[in-house]
This record gives sequence, structure tokens and C-alpha cells, in this order.
Amino acid sequence: MNDEQGTLSKAKAAQALVCGLPDDWHLHLRDGDALKSVVLATALQFGRAIVMPNLKPPVTNVSQALAYRQRILDALKLVIDETVRNIDRYKTSDILATIRMQHFFNRPDASADWMLEQLLQAAHFEPLMTLYLTDHTAPSDIDEAVDSGFVRAVKLYPAGATTHSDAGVTSIHQLHHVLARMEMRGLPLLVHGEVTDRDVDVFDREAVFIDRVMIDLRRKFPGLKLVFEHITTEEAAHFVRDAEGPIAATITPQHLLYNRNAIFNGGLRPHWYCLPVLKKERHRRALMQAASSGSARFFLGTDSAPHPAHLKEHAAACAGCYSAPHALALYASAFDAVDALEHLPGFAWAHGAAFYGLSANTRSIRLVPEACQTPQRLGFGERHIVPLAGGEFVPWRFDGFVDC
Ligand code: DOR
Ligand code: ZN
Repeated sequence: MNDEQGTLSKAKAAQALVCGLPDDWHLHLRDGDALKSVVLATALQFGRAIVMPNLKPPVTNVSQALAYRQRILDALKLVIDETVRNIDRYKTSDILATIRMQHFFNRPDASADWMLEQLLQAAHFEPLMTLYLTDHTAPSDIDEAVDSGFVRAVKLYPAGATTHSDAGVTSIHQLHHVLARMEMRGLPLLVHGEVTDRDVDVFDREAVFIDRVMIDLRRKFPGLKLVFEHITTEEAAHFVRDAEGPIAATITPQHLLYNRNAIFNGGLRPHWYCLPVLKKERHRRALMQAASSGSARFFLGTDSAPHPAHLKEHAAACAGCYSAPHALALYASAFDAVDALEHLPGFAWAHGAAFYGLSANTRSIRLVPEACQTPQRLGFGERHIVPLAGGEFVPWRFDGFVDC
């Protein structure tokens, strides 16, 4: 337990893990009220995040990316200001304000000063923007993206593969001139690696994508920076481990912690449903092995993808797991379960920045081996959201920015 100043007892401090401030290399922040509901949770734990462009309509050019980036920064400022006001009320033990505080800090014993310090740090959060690749993307869009200095990558959604992918690419072969420009300018291609062919079993779509698309992409554009996003299979982990050239993969907390049984455990559980879908235990183990191998090709990307609970608990449930508020606690628990905590800083802090050609964050965070309950439900605009593993206990707790 923390004392009033927010410092740890000696015993807990000895076991704590201090890690360079992580970045989230795959994140969905949405827009409007939904954006306001989720942006602070990420800014309280991560220095930067690659923000996915699958809005409706999608973010396809630099001016849209600039406007979206500004909406993210405005929403963050607004929520921080609002939270500061709540902290003042929390100081006077206002019960509603206390509940709102727990929404963000998940820590009933936190002092008001500690929370204010955390918010000051969160204000430094930097969204890294992406463009949505469409059949109409031109090489000039790539030049503008690189020249902007704030667009860091382009996302490939095969049309129909997932949430808001209807504007996605129908044939990657028609876009070779665009990929060639990306290769030349050093702009990474982030790949949602699933075929959309209805005849291919949903559990095989990633492995088939490697055979039909990835191998060819790697061969035709050997210098193109590729990120195989949210990998879910042994085949993908081995492909990324062994391929030639600049290639890496992000891995989500759900794919490290759960296999597909989680979706069917005691009934159909939509809050464990995302795309690519959870796979068999063999695959989970291969992902855990890759993440904890120390290889710089694997790094953190939560794919935190909020949907309101009523659209998840639905006859046609939306795909996406919302993990942002407890993402680092989940990752620490996964690495600890295989006795590989020494590899968490590489995975969470160093590897992604190096791949993107950015310097690693200089600030630090702390995690403590103390069971904590994840939030059961959270406000989401006018609605609410049920996060991944909502209400469950996880063995690690995120303890905030260090020495601030
Ligand atoms: O489960 C998913 N949800 N996978 C994706 O690729 C997209 C995401 C979303 O935007 O909801
Ligand atoms: Zn995603």
C-alpha cells in the first residue's frame, strides 16, 4: 500500500519494476465524446502512441491527420483540466469526484498531489499519426506524409477485414507505385494481416495472408519497413523472426494472456472478441516466446479498441478489446508468468522507438507486484464500456510515473 505521499513501502519498492516510459505502437482513440473518454487512460501510461486512422470517414491525407491530431490534443487538455477540477473536489471528499478519480487512477489510496503530478506528466503525451491506405492513395500523399513530420506510418486494411475497413485496399498489387515511394522515403507500412476471402476459415486468415501477401511484399520491396500488426499465430511470429529486411510485429496483451477458450468460457463472451481473433494455446505460447525473447523485432501495441458495451453485447458483436486503462498491468502479468520480466523494458520501451527511428523516452514508470482489480465498466460518452478482463484481478499494478 502507498502512504499519503504516494511513495511505496520498502518491501514493495524492492520488488517494483522501474521501466522507461513505454509507447503504444498500435492504438484506437476514436473521435468526439468517445475520444474524450479514452485518451487520458493512455496518456497516463504511455509517452507516445501510434494512432490508427480507421475513423468514419477514414484519415486518408495529411490535412485530415493534422486536424485529428489537434482534436486528440484538445480532448486530452480538456479531460486533464476537468480531472484537475475533480481533484479539488476530491480533496473535500466529494463522493462523485472520488468515483471519477478511480476511473482514471484505479487507486483508492492515491493522494491529490500524486494525482496532480501524474496529470502533469500525461499532458506530454504525443500522438503519432497514420494514414489509411486506400485504392486511391497516391505517391504524393506519401511525400506529404513524410514531409509533415507528424505522420509516422501508413496502415493497410484489406477491405472488409475488420472495423471500419470498407474503405480499405481491394488489391495491393494496384498500389505498388505507392509502396515503392514508401520504401524510398522510409515510411513504415503497418499491416492488418488477414485475408478476407470468405472461404478461408477465420482462424486461418492470418497464416494464409503470410503465404498470399506478406512473402510477396517482402520480396518485391526488400527495403520497405513493415510492421505485422497484432500478430496472433506461431506462423506470424516465426515469419517476423526469420524474414530478411526491416520488419517487426506488435503484440497485444490479450494475445499474450488468453487463447480462444476465453471467448467461449461459460458462454459466448464478446469482450474477448477482437480481430484477428484469439487463437489456440500453441499460438499464444509462440507469441509469448517471441515477446519475451529479447528480439528487437517484437514490441508493444495494445490494439486497445473501444466499443460501447451495447454494441459488443449484440447479435453481431463488434470486434475490439479495450485494454488501455490496465494495459501495462496486463503486460507485466504476462511477462511475469513466464519469468521474463527483464525483457519487458525492451518490448515496452526500447524496440518500437528504435524501429520507427525515434529516440526512446527518457522518463520512467513503475509497476508493482500487487494484485489489482481492473475496472468493471467505464463511462464512454453517453454510454459505457466493458474493458478486457473487466473486474478481474491481475497480479501487477501500474504505479505511475516515477520521480516526478
Ligand atoms: O478487433 C479489432 N478492432 N481489430 C481491428 O483491427 C480494428 C479494431 C477496431 O477498430 O475496433
Ligand atoms: Zn487495431
